[in-house]
Amino acid sequence: MSSFDAVEAQYDAFPYPQPSVVAQQLPAGFARGVLNFLTRRRLEDWFPASMRIWIAGCGTQQASMWALCYPEAEIVATDLSDGVLDIARSLAAQLGVDNVLFEKQNIADAAYEAEFDLAVSTGVIHHMPDPLVGATSLSRSLKPNGAAIVMVYNEMHRRALVPFRSAHQLLSQDGESADQRYQLASTMLDAVLDAPRCAPIGRPSLTGLRNARDHDRPFVADALLHPLEHTYDVSGLFDLLDSAGLRYASWLHPAAWDLSRYLTDEPLIARCEALDPIDQWRVVHALTGVGSPMFEVIAERREAPIRPPYSLDEVLALQVVRSNGVQGFGIEHEKVTKTGFTPPYEIEGAMLKGTARVAFGPGNDFAVPVAAREVIDAFATERSVGEVVDALSSKFGRQDLIELIANLLPSQVGLLSPLHPA
Ligand SMILES: C[S@@+](CC[C@H](N)C(=O)[O-])C[C@H]1O[C@@H](n2cnc3c(N)ncnc32)[C@H](O)[C@@H]1O
Repeated sequence: MSSFDAVEAQYDAFPYPQPSVVAQQLPAGFARGVLNFLTRRRLEDWFPASMRIWIAGCGTQQASMWALCYPEAEIVATDLSDGVLDIARSLAAQLGVDNVLFEKQNIADAAYEAEFDLAVSTGVIHHMPDPLVGATSLSRSLKPNGAAIVMVYNEMHRRALVPFRSAHQLLSQDGESADQRYQLASTMLDAVLDAPRCAPIGRPSLTGLRNARDHDRPFVADALLHPLEHTYDVSGLFDLLDSAGLRYASWLHPAAWDLSRYLTDEPLIARCEALDPIDQWRVVHALTGVGSPMFEVIAERREAPIRPPYSLDEVLALQVVRSNGVQGFGIEHEKVTKTGFTPPYEIEGAMLKGTARVAFGPGNDFAVPVAAREVIDAFATERSVGEVVDALSSKFGRQDLIELIANLLPSQVGLLSPLHPA
């Protein structure tokens, strides 16, 4: 069996993820504003509402999520596994999504050239025999001014699984079914976690998997049974992008890469901030270990124009709206069964707390002082930052207010996002 066949068989047996909720960020256009802001686009080269998006290795629910957040986009969603695509198509139909074309396709065989504004591939190319083939295919598919959102495994997150998976492979026998291999992993988890003389590396991860084994088989199978995965450290990720002709534009959740988010020791933080950015991220990765952020990166083609940071005048001129929260479509046994709503934040004591998202992934947890509420509400309808600064600076002080709003934009908290005024 080729590596690709083995990966296809894995996902046919355990379609990933187990559909649970499809989230639509509100208002319409908010997610696109985040993307434009993080890639420092100016109005003249914003990703248009009708942008073409390739979701490479779409899994069961990602295409529907993007379709709901980017309703005017033209989306092509591809995957290696028929089992996955069947579920993805069924969910899209149930959700009334009509802007996705699903196709069975191996990323290694994709022949797109300069066709897409955005290529999204999260949790996929690290399951290819040569992930560079995948990254190059994504890069080649982009229009000169396009961007790719790529997530590959952070090796810190996977390290503890490697010895367990090796033992599982050794203990598996020829001809065993996917169910039997799953059962073997389950037996191994009990044996290892309950034996007083065993001290498995990553006991918390393995315990989490044991807790999930009866209700989220795809998650557990991805961790413990997968036939092929590559993992990355910070340097490895940047080498991969570079070799594929891509250039880092932004982390998807930039604030997750600030050391000050994890430590309070100011001299240590200052030393870290004096390093160049890649070394700062290497320090964050090394010190936060299993708690380090996901490797979710936005990259552009190397020849795309370099966009400088926004000047203060440009920030003041941005037309901005506040997040209106997330409309969730709950799914059980592959059927959309209920809808729910998550507000943009909850008030907890003196803080506003919540999770900002960019259409997929775990999102970015934040906590901001409750006083920010008035400022956030000032953007209930689209207004320029400058207008709100003028309206509220007597109360907050101009400089403090500008800093507060900057902290709410997508590079930090993400409760505000620019909208194209057109
Ligand atoms: C871990 S899942 C991630 C799904 C989705 N991207 C997400 O984030 O929810 C990996 C998906 O990539 C698909 N896949 C793996 N290798 C692939 C390849 N070479 N070409 C296309 N799809 C592939 C699998 O079938 C599976 O659906």
